[in-house]
Amino acid sequence: MPVSMSIRTKVLLFAGVAFGLVAAAGIVLHRNASSAQELRARIAVVDQQLRLYSGMQPQAWNYLAHLLQAGRLGMDSRALLRDYEQLLNENLLNLQEGLREEQQWKDTPGNARQSQLIENLIDAQRQWARGVEVVLRPVTLPANSSNSAWWELFSTYEQGVRPHLDNAAAAQRERKQLLQAQMDEHLENEQVLSGVLPLLVGLVLGPLAAFLLAPLLRELRELHTTAERIRQGDFSAELPAERQDELGSLAHALNRMAQELRDSLREKERMLQAQAEAAERERREEAEIAARDLHRYNAALEHMVRARTGELENANIQLASSLRQLQSMQAQLIFNDRLASMGKLAAGVGHEINNPLAYVISNLNFLHKELNRTQGAPSQEDFQELLTAVTDAKEGAERVRVIVQDLKTLSRPDDAQNGRADLKTVVHAAVKIASHEIRRRARLVAELGEDVPPVQGNASRLGQVFLNLLINAAHAIPEGQVEENEIRVSTRQDTPEFIVVEIRDTGCGIPPENLDRIFDPFFTTKPVGEGTGLGLAMVHSIITTLGGTITVESEVDRGTTFRLNLPAAKALT
Ligand SMILES: Nc1ncnc2c1ncn2[C@@H]1O[C@H](COP(=O)(O)OP(=O)(O)OP(=O)(O)O)[C@@H](O)[C@H]1O
Ligand SMILES: [Mg+2]
Repeated sequence: MPVSMSIRTKVLLFAGVAFGLVAAAGIVLHRNASSAQELRARIAVVDQQLRLYSGMQPQAWNYLAHLLQAGRLGMDSRALLRDYEQLLNENLLNLQEGLREEQQWKDTPGNARQSQLIENLIDAQRQWARGVEVVLRPVTLPANSSNSAWWELFSTYEQGVRPHLDNAAAAQRERKQLLQAQMDEHLENEQVLSGVLPLLVGLVLGPLAAFLLAPLLRELRELHTTAERIRQGDFSAELPAERQDELGSLAHALNRMAQELRDSLREKERMLQAQAEAAERERREEAEIAARDLHRYNAALEHMVRARTGELENANIQLASSLRQLQSMQAQLIFNDRLASMGKLAAGVGHEINNPLAYVISNLNFLHKELNRTQGAPSQEDFQELLTAVTDAKEGAERVRVIVQDLKTLSRPDDAQNGRADLKTVVHAAVKIASHEIRRRARLVAELGEDVPPVQGNASRLGQVFLNLLINAAHAIPEGQVEENEIRVSTRQDTPEFIVVEIRDTGCGIPPENLDRIFDPFFTTKPVGEGTGLGLAMVHSIITTLGGTITVESEVDRGTTFRLNLPAAKALT
């Protein structure tokens, strides 16, 4: 049974059968081919003999012609006979050689008879040649008798030689036909074999392969499927292992491998479960410890929180006291700045009052001197002069009164938010006070709108605001170029609720990096002792307290604009 054979045996059996069949077919084809080759050689030999037979008659005619010519010329004809006999010997040798060649092929038919025929032929030719030579030798043929002599000699050839020549040639032609028939048969066989043999080999080998190898392929497929299942993790896959051949042992090995994998998987699962249980135990213990720790930490944390809360409360109390101190310091500082403003104000006022006062004093001195001189009775002319002096002194005193009036406007100690202030009056007062700083540096232009309503706030505080802004503008312009510089104060009403006041100068401008800091207390670019840096901080504080805003635009070397938005005063009820 092929099932019980090993794969090696099957393969060897198949290879043996295939080799045997191919070898047998080869041998058959080879034998046929070599037989055909032999026949071809034999036919060639027979052909050669036939050519010799067909050349014999022309040789005889040639001999005869030479003899006749020699007889006519009286020459010795025996030499011609010798030549012809030699030619006949050569023919005999060649024909016998052909026969010998044929004898190497065992089944050549009628070889002995052919040999006899050849000998008879050559003998007949030899006798004819000698007879002819004897007839022609002594005669000097007359010219007219040569034809009849020719025909006579020709007929002796036809009678004595021709039958032998025809017999020998006919026997040889017969042999050729026989060989040719065998040759045809071989060629036919060859054709048949070259078609039939491969078919035969295929017919034997095909079923044999199917019979031996098909079950093998089927089982290999089964083996592959099982191995694939094992690869995908299905270790329960098993192969029938009852075969005794190589496939059987492969199936056995595969089954053993699957079994080992099953075992190791079970072992691994057992280990994983043990690990999981250990981890769970550990986790539970840790959770218990953590719960205990948490409790402890909670207690510690509560304690800490309580302690920190107490610390924070203390810190809060300290902060509140610091804040109070800071607030009082700020109030003090603002008060100081107000004092400084007042100082500036006093200086400005002193300067302003000095001129009219000097004027009044000089007029009064003049009056005093004149009244002493005239002793109470001045002449009409003196009286006029005295009157002018009195009028001038009065005018000077009047100017002092106006200045003092302005001073009162700017220094009334009212509270910041309350009251209404007429911008025109306040700005005029501030301009006047600042004029001794401005006049050496720039032209002052005031565009104070006629219909601008009063603003909310205290006139003295607003006066401080404008005074500070005007003095800052003046300080931004160097002294001495009055015509090229300008400080412009303008007021207008954009919306019913707010009045806009702009103070614009053509001074040095504020660098962008300082713009954010100019409202900070103590920020100043002035040398120590010249500026406190509290001016704008105070301005900002007053404006925002009133509910207004202050903004600044500035370009270095081109100038600065401060823009104030002040709430319009509420209508009087
Ligand atoms: N119009 C302006 N042009 C250029 N710089 C200005 C202008 N106004 C304010 N500054 C800048 O803002 C700074 C702060 O001004 P602020 O009025 O607060 O203080 P201060 O003028 O320096 O000192 P003071 O307390 O005497 O007023 C000034 O030092 C100056 O550098
Ligand atoms: Mg200032």
